[in-house]
Amino acid sequence: MSVIRYDNLDVEYETEIGDSILDADLENGVDHTCDCGGNCACSTCKIIVISGAELLSSQQEDEKDTLDAYGWNPDEYRLACQCIVEGEGRIVLNMPEPE
Ligand code: FES
Repeated sequence: MSVIRYDNLDVEYETEIGDSILDADLENGVDHTCDCGGNCACSTCKIIVISGAELLSSQQEDEKDTLDAYGWNPDEYRLACQCIVEGEGRIVLNMPEPE
């Protein structure tokens, strides 16, 4: 079990290992924009990881390419649909303003 917290939304919930952040958000009532339906093709699900990055799957080339294509720095942002919770612990995030 891991805890997801959005500092700027004052939202916190528990999720299972193996879920993507996007799926976990949607299952837990977090209003998370995802225009491409979680297919790494739009960047609208982007998040900022404040802490707990080591508990998430690592960033792959296609995620970097999509962030780059929409003008977001892959070193600063992750795509929630591509972040799989892989470890137990506390993950603290920020949700950027919708595009
Ligand atoms: S939902 Fe489109 S990139 Fe994640």
